[in-house]
Amino acid sequence: MPSLKQLIKKPVYALSSRFATGKLERVVREIENAEREELSRGTFLEAKIRQIGLRYDPRGLYGEDVDDMNFHAPGLWQIPRQLAEAMVLLASQPIFSFLEVGTCDGFTFSFMAACLSRLNPGLKATTIDIAPTLPTSARIVFKTPVAFLAGKTSDAFADEVFDLVLIDGNHAYEWVARDYQNVGRQARLCMFHDINDRFCGDDAVPKFWRELKIEELGRADFHEFLFHSNSDRVMGIGIRIKR
Ligand SMILES: C[S@@+](CC[C@H](N)C(=O)[O-])C[C@H]1O[C@@H](n2cnc3c(N)ncnc32)[C@H](O)[C@@H]1O
Repeated sequence: MPSLKQLIKKPVYALSSRFATGKLERVVREIENAEREELSRGTFLEAKIRQIGLRYDPRGLYGEDVDDMNFHAPGLWQIPRQLAEAMVLLASQPIFSFLEVGTCDGFTFSFMAACLSRLNPGLKATTIDIAPTLPTSARIVFKTPVAFLAGKTSDAFADEVFDLVLIDGNHAYEWVARDYQNVGRQARLCMFHDINDRFCGDDAVPKFWRELKIEELGRADFHEFLFHSNSDRVMGIGIRIKR
């Protein structure tokens, strides 16, 4: 017989998931109506990230940012300051097409798509995931054309060129290399999540990022956003900008 904990797990998650998606939708609206100058300010962006909340993750990886973690619910799987600082850099770049590999809850994608489309009217944003079902965030109505595509990998987009690609799917070295080959290499801006993540292991994204910096030395600029409140090696965002 299932325990009480097992019995209430699903309805609790469904309820808190609906609540978190509601918060996300409100912030997407606020961003769509924000002054464009605000979207170049780290403090504003960080406050919006905290307002949406972080994905429930009991591994203790958020440090002091744990106060912004949503209770048993989806959210941004990010360290707030890392993403805010990365978004400040992206705010200075013209971006009209954006592909995210690895949707998961779709909260990072929704936040980024809202910011980037406010800054670059007409932006087309797409997120793909190998998983066969869409997250609840896919039901949000955006002002900009956004596409949530389930059951897809970067193999399906190998002929397309995007201004910005975020690689955050399968973190194994072979898949990061494959995603980069398929869609990252051609993109003027390629963003990687977990370049400094001790949980995914040094032989995965961190290794690929280290090698890329050597391989493309002189042809691209590399920016890193590694802040963690406890100076822990968690997540880390890298952005490669072609010269
Ligand atoms: C770390 S999560 C993505 C987190 C998300 N970008 C965010 O910031 O909230 C990784 C996701 O990649 C998906 N995934 C795994 N392998 C993949 C692949 N080869 N292609 C696309 N998505 C993949 C998983 O199903 C999972 O949802």
